[in-house]
Amino acid sequence: MALLTKAPRGTQDILPAKIAPWQAMERELIATAQRFGFQEIRTPTFEHTELFNRSVGDTTDVVQKEMYTFQDKGDRSITLRPEGTAGAARAVIEHGLLAEALPVKVSYLLSCFRYEKPQAGRLREFHQFGAEMYGSASPAADADLIALASQALENIGIREVSLEINSIGCPHCRPVYLQALREYFGARQDQLCPTCRERLGKNPLRILDCKNPDCAAIAAGAPLVLDHLCGDCREHFDGLKARLDAMGIPYTVNPRIVRGLDYYTRTVFEFVSSGIGAQGTVCGGGRYDGLIQELGGPQTPALGFAMGLERLLLVLEAQGNPPAQGERCDLYVAPMGENASVRAFQLVNLLRAEGYYGETDLMGRSLRAQMKYADKLGCRFSLVLGDNELETGEARLKDMETGESLPIPLGEGFLEEFDRRMAARAYAQLEQSIQEELAGE
Ligand code: HAM
Repeated sequence: MALLTKAPRGTQDILPAKIAPWQAMERELIATAQRFGFQEIRTPTFEHTELFNRSVGDTTDVVQKEMYTFQDKGDRSITLRPEGTAGAARAVIEHGLLAEALPVKVSYLLSCFRYEKPQAGRLREFHQFGAEMYGSASPAADADLIALASQALENIGIREVSLEINSIGCPHCRPVYLQALREYFGARQDQLCPTCRERLGKNPLRILDCKNPDCAAIAAGAPLVLDHLCGDCREHFDGLKARLDAMGIPYTVNPRIVRGLDYYTRTVFEFVSSGIGAQGTVCGGGRYDGLIQELGGPQTPALGFAMGLERLLLVLEAQGNPPAQGERCDLYVAPMGENASVRAFQLVNLLRAEGYYGETDLMGRSLRAQMKYADKLGCRFSLVLGDNELETGEARLKDMETGESLPIPLGEGFLEEFDRRMAARAYAQLEQSIQEELAGE
């Protein structure tokens, strides 16, 4: 029975009391992306398994160990998306977006599924904000994308992150590097895990990303990709660095970043936080110039990144940022009796139609209990509606913070007076915060 009331391992509920920071962060991320010209795309939660095998790569941990794959009732192999890049690439090819003016720029907010060992910052269902750009081979595009990631992190309040960049070469120089890796790991293959021994022939780059501690120790001494780049890749990397320098975006070159997915070419990068333990990579991305063609589209250079929302919230918490607050109720109407309750609904809905947040009694509470409830909701104003108020057509609007109460007509003029009181309240608060700021100087 316990299974019925317990979410599956590695998943979590985001309860109403905790939703405000999510909503604030998501709004800011999408708004920042829009300022860089990225429009939101929404793709299915599941795709054909083959899409991920071909794009993420069938020698990666994600494909080999972590995908939620099943046969559907039509006997198709289906996989819950482990990431957003493959689905977005499939969608832009399917709908012919690459025939439009380039570059095409999309962003997304989505849930991803990976069967990983859960720990702080690592879940089996998690959420990503991502951005993808198709059509530009220029290092200016890499710089633009990294600038977006950097500003997005800054705008949501992340301070303690560092940017690490690397280049992992292209189809011209990669084979030379892979050969160097094969020689290095080949001489040590009896110390590798069985999966990596298999990877040695197929894709030795993946050994650099293995989470097994023995493999990681051997990988630490492996040849570096930066020492094997061709002239074009080197020039591209220099072009990126020059633009990051010009924008004043600090970075370090970390030749050990290879990323855990197969589609990358040239630039790869990660934003890493030191404040949240082992799962400190809050954002990862890079260029994938071969993927669109690999999936059946026209040869199109492309690049992108994704950030893990759960990890970003962990960083904000570790930094001690006060969590974003939800909407506050503007007016609580407390009716006494049936007639008053009917009228209360009329008033509250009038306000809601104007964009205010209004509440009234749904529980048959006593007046005292209603005022306690209004307090708990943090209402800005309250208004008591009894026989007397209904008769005279006038009530008193009480400011729940100052206790001040002023008359308000219940019929004509109700909305205008409420607007005025809200504006006066906002003005008084602004004045107070200016005074406080001046006093602090
Ligand atoms: P990724 O590095 O696999 O890249 O994931 C991106 C981010 O998602 C990570 O940096 C991390 O913040 C978050 N993340 C990954 N796995 C988990 C997990 N199990 N639990 C919580 N958070 C997690 C990609 O997914 C690529 N699609 C990024 C990309 C876009 N590259 C080009 N375009």
